[in-house]
Amino acid sequence: MFNTGIATKLRSIRDNILFKELKYVPTSIEKPRHLIQSKSQAWVGLESIVKDIIQFSNCQTNHALEFGVEFGYSSSALSNYFKKVTGVDIFTGDEHAGFHGDIFELTKSNFKDFPNIELIKSDYRDFIKDNAQQYDLIHVDIVHTYEATYECGLWSAQHSTVTIFHDTESYRDVKRAVAAIAKATHKKFYNYKKYNGLGIVI
Ligand SMILES: C[S@@+](CC[C@H](N)C(=O)[O-])C[C@H]1O[C@@H](n2cnc3c(N)ncnc32)[C@H](O)[C@@H]1O
Repeated sequence: MFNTGIATKLRSIRDNILFKELKYVPTSIEKPRHLIQSKSQAWVGLESIVKDIIQFSNCQTNHALEFGVEFGYSSSALSNYFKKVTGVDIFTGDEHAGFHGDIFELTKSNFKDFPNIELIKSDYRDFIKDNAQQYDLIHVDIVHTYEATYECGLWSAQHSTVTIFHDTESYRDVKRAVAAIAKATHKKFYNYKKYNGLGIVI
């Protein structure tokens, strides 16, 4: 027990140095009113710091973009705070989220009471190609490889005021990619360790 505590602390200190990782401490917690039932528990908890991140980053609330929608829990959370949310996903899963059949229609039906969410069935690579649009916030939660997170996340950091990345604690490659993106874009990398980790690049 004692050793585990020390090991966690040492890992944390190492990451702070290695990744120039800053600790994210929310100042307010607010559970959004309008959420879908979550099939996965992975993002549950983070919905309550979306408003805090908006205030912390001082971003506008016109348009959020999400890469990696799956059944739609995180999109539903974002839709409480942004006038429009665009969700991009291949909707067939991946090696980390699991492969399943095509859930595009199912996810669309989850959003029947969310008129401000628009879904686009696309690979992130096709979506970002020749795309110069800017967003207020972008959420990256696709396959958790270094390469995909870096490519999608770099574009996202260049096209948004604030970019958030899920699973910085559960996938080392995600954290490595987020740190590299922050370095390449001269932005800061804040990390919220709870609920599998949320990287915030501003
Ligand atoms: C972890 S799930 C997203 C969970 C969702 N953000 C939530 O918490 O409610 C990852 C999603 O990324 C999608 N995905 C994986 N690779 C992708 C790619 N290259 N382009 C677009 N979507 C991708 C998968 O289909 C899957 O639905």
